Amino acid sequence: MGTIRFREVGKTYPGKEPVVALDRVNLEIGEGEFVALLGPSGCGKSTLLNLVAGFEDMTSGTLSFNGGAVSSPGPERAVVFQEAALLPWLTVAQNIAFGPSVQRKARAEYEPKIRELLRLVGLERFADALPSQLSGGMRQRVGIARALVMDPKALLMDEPFGALDAQTRMSMHQLLLDVWQSLGTTVLFVTHDIDEAILLADRICIMSARPGRITHEIAVELRRPRSVDQLTDPAFIRHKAEIMAEMRAAQKEHA
Ligand SMILES: Nc1ncnc2c1ncn2[C@@H]1O[C@H](COP(=O)(O)OP(=O)(O)OP(=O)(O)O)[C@@H](O)[C@H]1O
Ligand SMILES: [Mg+2]
Repeated sequence: MGTIRFREVGKTYPGKEPVVALDRVNLEIGEGEFVALLGPSGCGKSTLLNLVAGFEDMTSGTLSFNGGAVSSPGPERAVVFQEAALLPWLTVAQNIAFGPSVQRKARAEYEPKIRELLRLVGLERFADALPSQLSGGMRQRVGIARALVMDPKALLMDEPFGALDAQTRMSMHQLLLDVWQSLGTTVLFVTHDIDEAILLADRICIMSARPGRITHEIAVELRRPRSVDQLTDPAFIRHKAEIMAEMRAAQKEHA
């Protein structure tokens, strides 16, 4: 459950000057795997993630999730964006419960789940707070809980911590590592941030500038469970040097 498979996937946005956002992308993500997608702005990272989410249609190739074709959004593929678009008139607990309540699930069925998720993301004391009373990091934690409430098989994250300050981002990294460790959900994580990619992922796919292709893959050799202390690990520094060299080479090629 939670496997994602791209075969020769292309995506062109039509228009007077069509934009080739993805070109023959091949990518397989296994059950429970944590894959980071790293690349320069505009290389097609969000496009790739949006295809898995079912928000966009591809132009060529095939894309499957758990062996079935992806054609529309579904609760088994939850998305977390840079800004958690919370409903401002609902409390934290009500925001998390929004999905199941829209699906007309019985309250008794999801109520214990909401409590468990509030605990998992460290917001028990803020269950009745309104989004306006939360910090950016807390709002993003609600966003993660809201994604997890549907028991997704895959968590699709598009620069989820990009707007947070360094300190908050670090605590979110630890939180995500803990959540992933305890739930075993497949994660596709889009980022610009090399450190973040190495710290979190099992595998890093580097994309070239437009038209977006995956040009390089790195299996991260940091032991699990991970912690932010590993930022100074020799393996971490080795990976970072390799990725920076790869990205510089890709930039030169593009120039
Ligand atoms: N709806 C759209 N219509 C037309 N072109 C689009 C659309 N969405 C994205 N593009 C174009 O496709 C290319 C890839 O965009 P995408 O948003 O996937 O990049 P990205 O890697 O996520 O960039 P960033 O890191 O800045 O978020 C860009 O050139 C962008 O202008
Ligand atoms: Mg993007």
